[in-house]
Amino acid sequence: MIRAIYPGSFDPVTLGHLDIIKRASQTVDELIVGVLNNSGKTPFFTIDERVSMLEELIKELPNVKAMSFSGLLVDFARETKATIVVRGLRAISDFEYELQMAQTNHKLNPQVDTMFLATSLEYSYLSSTIVKEVAFFNGDIREFVPEPVIKRVREKVREKTGQVM
Ligand code: PNS
Repeated sequence: MIRAIYPGSFDPVTLGHLDIIKRASQTVDELIVGVLNNSGKTPFFTIDERVSMLEELIKELPNVKAMSFSGLLVDFARETKATIVVRGLRAISDFEYELQMAQTNHKLNPQVDTMFLATSLEYSYLSSTIVKEVAFFNGDIREFVPEPVIKRVREKVREKTGQVM
């Protein structure tokens, strides 16, 4: 039984994330999408909003669930009895940080190994930061985030800026 965690901020979840979730869920028995609740950072979406958006998107995937976590990823892995961490690699620029994180996590908990999935070509430029930037200036985010997330991002921008869109 292989249980894996796909961790991230998911602020918000993008089509690139969803692609990794779908592909990883076909490779492992159980996939937990671990949403980092980082008290040191002010996210765009609250932790509950991020988890709820993910829950809506994964409802058709029976072996996937979304959970929030705080603190160290390896502790979350221990608590959930997960042995694999899944991360998407978009470009060489991701590699240094991802390798460092994978090696640190393995050092902290040798039972945890990281599995990298190459991001699908059509999403290799995409990030949650880009989505927020484009949305903030009223750009079209339909190619960036799943359908149910488009509305939520637009609402959030409106909430934060008071603008009428
Ligand atoms: O989507 P992100 O923001 O690139 O995800 C980063 C994340 C959540 C995977 C990473 O910051 C993380 O695992 N944070 C938890 C704290 C931790 O375990 N840090 C040590 C790893 S070097």
